[in-house]
Amino acid sequence: MNSFVSFLDKSPDLIRQIVEDGLAIKSGSRHPENLTGKTLGMLFFNPSLRTRVSFDQAMTRFGGQALTLSASGDVWNLEFADGAVMDGTTVEHVKDAAKVLSRYVDALAIRSFGDLKNLSDDLQEKVLRSFEKYAEIPVVSMESACEHPAQCLADMMTIRERHGKERVKFVLSWAPHIKPLPMAVPHSALLCAAHLGLDITVAHPPGFELADSYLDYSRSVASSFGGSVKVSHDQDEALSDAVVVYGKNWAPSSAYGDPTRLASMLDAHKDWLVTGDKIASASTLLHCLPVRRNLEIADSALDSPQSAIYDEAENRLWAQVALLDHVFSS
Ligand code: CP
Repeated sequence: MNSFVSFLDKSPDLIRQIVEDGLAIKSGSRHPENLTGKTLGMLFFNPSLRTRVSFDQAMTRFGGQALTLSASGDVWNLEFADGAVMDGTTVEHVKDAAKVLSRYVDALAIRSFGDLKNLSDDLQEKVLRSFEKYAEIPVVSMESACEHPAQCLADMMTIRERHGKERVKFVLSWAPHIKPLPMAVPHSALLCAAHLGLDITVAHPPGFELADSYLDYSRSVASSFGGSVKVSHDQDEALSDAVVVYGKNWAPSSAYGDPTRLASMLDAHKDWLVTGDKIASASTLLHCLPVRRNLEIADSALDSPQSAIYDEAENRLWAQVALLDHVFSS
């Protein structure tokens, strides 16, 4: 089965091929055949605008259909622990839900963010991996605790459109926020640039390290395509000669589970706001959206000529058509 839960499960060549397919589908030179007559079930444990609408449109524009379910209102409260005595608030075990949904739809897409209490728990991707374990159909991530593969494919498309196959400097810059956010998008931004073989700098204040497993994997993939990965704590220096800038907040995993420390660490770096002046040398600014304007990234950057945020959002649609064409290809 062609499940798509994590880039780490997939060969870099397959990922690059899906991106090329997305570009060809967008240009009209390739027609995806495999969505016709298929139904995608979409189960959301968290809110969404882009992911929900773009997956829905990817299916319906190419002859399939999508069914949207909210985990907080449309389905029973799910149990994930194997062997649990279900005498509390959970009503249906994921084992039963996944097997039943497998009889109704052709693939199951899941959005489930991390708890931000313990990084090693988040890295286990309990919700996505439980559905993958029990489902009898492909399971697709619509963003999990530590990764956002569909966003990553769209980001790769956007860079390919604007920079071709040039090996440019890509800076993933930490940006301020008022609430702790997961590392799924920054991990995927890193994977995006690594799979394009770019020269990557991850710039963040001390204490905001990304997960070692994603850094190590990205170093290996980037170097296999001629690129590199380094980490900097100096935003100005990192951005001074950047060509592609990805601005994004994420919470420090060293303070997961400690709300007071999380809040004080987030509050201490408001000067990392990504502004138009800071990205003056760059050609492209990316952000997955939604963005808190003038808290995380300033209007002067988001509304600048370098900003590719709306192309990037549009590319979610085309990237997902290519991804679903692959998922349904068996
Ligand atoms: N970028 C993204 O995944 O947006 P949504 O959370 O609105 O789906």
